[in-house]
Amino acid sequence: MAAFQPKITAFVCNWCTYTGADLAGTSRLQMAPEVRIIRLPCTGRIDPLFIIKAFERGADGVIVSGCHPADCHYNHGNYHARRRFAIFRDLLDFVGIDPRRVIFSWVSASEGGKWRDVVDGATATIRELGPCRTDTGDEGQGRLACAS
Ligand code: FES
Repeated sequence: MAAFQPKITAFVCNWCTYTGADLAGTSRLQMAPEVRIIRLPCTGRIDPLFIIKAFERGADGVIVSGCHPADCHYNHGNYHARRRFAIFRDLLDFVGIDPRRVIFSWVSASEGGKWRDVVDGATATIRELGPCRTDTGDEGQGRLACAS
């Protein structure tokens, strides 16, 4: 049986983490290949529903990463995101998603090595938790079953 290859969606801000991920690539750092990046202007733009949608569409884990506190190019976007996700984390259990499947980090444009560590750490965590799946409920509607 083939080893479980987790699908991980990363929502990253354009200015810091995307550039850090690009630096990791141009520096030829080796890292787990399972992450697909979605670039957004700022972590403040990430609606928690984007994360739920990613799981509905087959992700086994999600990374959210942006500029370090006080470094946001839109001044307060990452502070808004941090507050929003502190509350959102409590709701994950309620919708059937193990909160360990959502990894938050701050990665600056010069931290290619840190991005590699985030990717490798997230991949190891999701691999340990196993695949996420959509169960079909009694009414024929898909229901996330991503709890461990
Ligand atoms: Fe990077 Fe706001 S621009 S978090």
